Order: sequence, then structure tokens, then C-alpha cells
Amino acid sequence: MPTAVPTISLPSGGAMATLGLGTWMMGEHRRDRKKEVAALMLGLDLGMNLIDTAEMYGDGGAEEVVGEAIAGRREETFLVSKVYPHNASRRGAVAACKRSLERLGTDHLDLYLLHWRGDIPLEETVDAFETLRREGSIRDWGVSNFDRADMEELFALPNGTRCAANQVMYHLGCRGVEWDLLPFCRKHRVAVMAYSPVGRGRLLRDRRLNALATELGATAAQLALAWLLRQAGVSAIPKAASEAHVRDNRAAVDLKLPASVLKQLDDAFAPPSGPTSLAIL
Ligand SMILES: NC(=O)c1ccc[n+]([C@@H]2O[C@H](COP(=O)([O-])OP(=O)(O)OC[C@H]3O[C@@H](n4cnc5c(N)ncnc54)[C@H](OP(=O)(O)O)[C@@H]3O)[C@@H](O)[C@H]2O)c1
Repeated sequence: MPTAVPTISLPSGGAMATLGLGTWMMGEHRRDRKKEVAALMLGLDLGMNLIDTAEMYGDGGAEEVVGEAIAGRREETFLVSKVYPHNASRRGAVAACKRSLERLGTDHLDLYLLHWRGDIPLEETVDAFETLRREGSIRDWGVSNFDRADMEELFALPNGTRCAANQVMYHLGCRGVEWDLLPFCRKHRVAVMAYSPVGRGRLLRDRRLNALATELGATAAQLALAWLLRQAGVSAIPKAASEAHVRDNRAAVDLKLPASVLKQLDDAFAPPSGPTSLAIL
């Protein structure tokens, strides 16, 4: 019996799985749809019930794929979507959320994120998120690609401390967030969602990672994900359109990493030695 996927509690009381399913690059080609829906449904079957999507992905196509995958099983899904910065005004974000809900075939999101910082003042976006939260269209809200200084600015705004999550690029080959962003988020109980957790597939070709994984009887993806998942308050959202990859990733939850392995990973993939600006895709 595999271990259940642990969860992180959000301010609304919602429980977000620490291992979820990314959807960037889904919904772009009609011919791939069946395979993408099947991969997401398998992920749900295996308990990876966090699905991360965005209005941007496939120009709404990814949200439609997700809608098909979660049809009839909305209650078991923790659903995350993101608003484009240029739509994140007081009225724009509310309208964008409605369009996302329509494509997803649901009446609420569990978490709604500002995809990255744009020109619209943050307080407008926070107001829109709070409106959506009060009317029940979203349970929690958060941000993405926010560095430490952005988080401090957000936290100084009215209701800014309601931010539930910050989704950032984080994997073994990209550890800059450990310097001061991760500690800030931990202190303020903001969940950190690691995007590109297997380095878009490239990390998995690393010789040192593969050698260590082989010693553990695991795959490189399982080792890369287990390394993220061992950290309190961190979730990972690998995108896998193939069922074999979904199964492979799910097994990361059961991989325990001894201190000696963590030390070898630190030697191979050095933690930051000073402030580093946030890496953004
Ligand atoms: N907020 C943001 O700005 C932002 C930016 C980027 C990503 N994201 C979110 O984070 C999610 C994940 O990031 P990502 O898509 O950039 O990269 P990723 O999850 O690190 O990598 C995805 C790639 O890795 C492959 N892969 C997955 N599991 C594998 C396994 N076990 N073995 C071998 N290959 C495997 C996938 O192949 P297959 O698809 O062929 O299975 C795909 O090519 C996105 O889908 C999106 O939801 C958010």
C-alpha cells in the first residue's frame, strides 16, 4: 500500500496535496487530449489530487482538459488556476476567474494565483481575490514568481497576509529560493509550490542524480521529487502527460532520503551561498 500523499493546510481550512499534477503544455493539440486527460485521471486515482493549471496554458485549452479529467470527481480534486497579470485588475480578475470556472466546469477554485507580477497595482488584485473569496468562487488565493521583496510588499497591503501560496521555480538545479524566500514563506505559513520540479525533464539526465538514484533503487524523478517533498510547507507539481511518468512520480512519496544522501545531493547541487534573484521561466 503506498503512503497517502501528505497535505498542507491552507488558511480556509483546505488541504492541498504536496504532490500534484502540472498542466503546462497540455491542451495545445487536439490529438494529445485523450492521453492528457488519462494522465490526469490516473494521477487522481493515485491520490495526487492537486491539479495546477492557468488561463494561459494552451490559451484556455489546458483548463478544458482539466475540466474533462475532473468531471464527476470535483470533490476529490484540489484545483489551482492562475490569472494573467494583465487581467488581474479589480474587475478583470473577477471576469477572468469566471471564464476559468466555465472552462473547468466547476463553480469554485481551491486556490487562485496571480501568475506573475505585472503593471496592475497589487492592491487591486488583492481586492479582486478577496471579492472572489467572499462570494465563494475561490477558497484561497496566492501568487506566483514573487521574490522576497514582492512578498514583503504584498504583506504590507490590507489583506495581503491572506496570501496562501507562492508558486516558484524550485528544483535541485535551481535552489536560490532557499536563501531568503523559503524562510519568509515558512515563517508566514505561505505554502511554496515548486514548479518545474524535475527541471522540465533536463535535470533527470544529470549523471550524479542518476547514480544516486540507482544506489537507492529509485529513479532520478523520484529522487528529485522526494528531495522537495521532505521539506515542510513545500509541494511539487510535476507535469506528466504519460501514465508511466505519473506512476513514477507518485512513488516519490514513499522514498525516504537518509542524511548521507542529502549530503551527497548538497555536494552535487550546491545550495545558494548568498542572495540570488528569483529564477523565472
Ligand atoms: N507559475 C509559473 O510561472 C509556472 C511556470 C512553469 C510551470 N508551472 C507549473 O508547474 C508544472 C510543472 O513544471 P514544468 O511543466 O515546467 O516542468 P516539469 O514538471 O519539471 O517537467 C515536465 C517534463 O518532465 C517530463 N517528466 C515528468 N515526469 C517524468 C518522469 N517521471 N520521468 C521522466 N520524465 C518526466 C514530462 O514528460 P511527459 O509530459 O512526456 O510525461 C515533461 O516533459 C507546469 O506544468 C505548470 O503547471 C508554473
